[in-house]
Amino acid sequence: MAKVTIVLLEAALELVPKEIAGHPQVVKSARKYGLRPSDMLLDAGIHWKAMRSLDSWWRRGRPDVVHLSLLNLLEKAPVREGLAEVYVHLQDGRVLAFSPSVRIPKNYDRFKGLMTQVLKLNRAPPQGEALIWKASDSLRELLGGRGLLLLSEDAEVEERPADVVSEAAEGNMVIGFGAFPRGPFSQEVLSVASRKVKIRGGEPLKAWDVACALSCALYDLAEVLKGQD
Ligand SMILES: C[S@@+](CC[C@H](N)C(=O)[O-])C[C@H]1O[C@@H](n2cnc3c(N)ncnc32)[C@H](O)[C@@H]1O
Repeated sequence: MAKVTIVLLEAALELVPKEIAGHPQVVKSARKYGLRPSDMLLDAGIHWKAMRSLDSWWRRGRPDVVHLSLLNLLEKAPVREGLAEVYVHLQDGRVLAFSPSVRIPKNYDRFKGLMTQVLKLNRAPPQGEALIWKASDSLRELLGGRGLLLLSEDAEVEERPADVVSEAAEGNMVIGFGAFPRGPFSQEVLSVASRKVKIRGGEPLKAWDVACALSCALYDLAEVLKGQD
């Protein structure tokens, strides 16, 4: 059975873009943290006014969505023991990989500091064994011929998280869910999806709830596999 690969898709995680680096709200927040605007993550909780001039502002600047989703997936037995692996696909196309032994800061400001380093250097820590690193320049490259099982609240097919996880493992497919705050997937992602599936129950879920449901399903899958040994 293949390792279960989970990708947070089109994550709302980026550095403050140049177009708004001089906006008073950005400059003020950078001063408060003693940083240059280009050394900060775009964060809708802080830069909500400055962001309004950006293209597709409503799906950008939500590091908290990524933080909460990663906390629900990483540092847990299924990932530590190699049953599953987790990636973050950014809106600029890059895909980040996470070591099974990575520890994600629980503190949000520390998480943002870590991800700023990763976005700038394509890895963390800057030297030595990488715990987070750029795995590829595109989602298509990451998939490498594998199918993408896209979790989507508007899919017609409904499945339990346990079935999603075992289907992915048995069919060597990658599971993807959106790590942005609002709206549909881009055409680019939709064009590489082999199947769209809705989590049974139907209601639209937050990205971190989806992460939690997948994590629980991975624990169940691990139990089933142990029982087969
Ligand atoms: C990033 S949000 C997407 C924003 C959402 N489309 C909206 O406008 O509020 C949450 C992500 O979790 C996944 N998701 C949410 N509810 C779901 C459900 N009932 N079944 C499957 N996936 C779901 C999708 O991948 C979605 O992109």
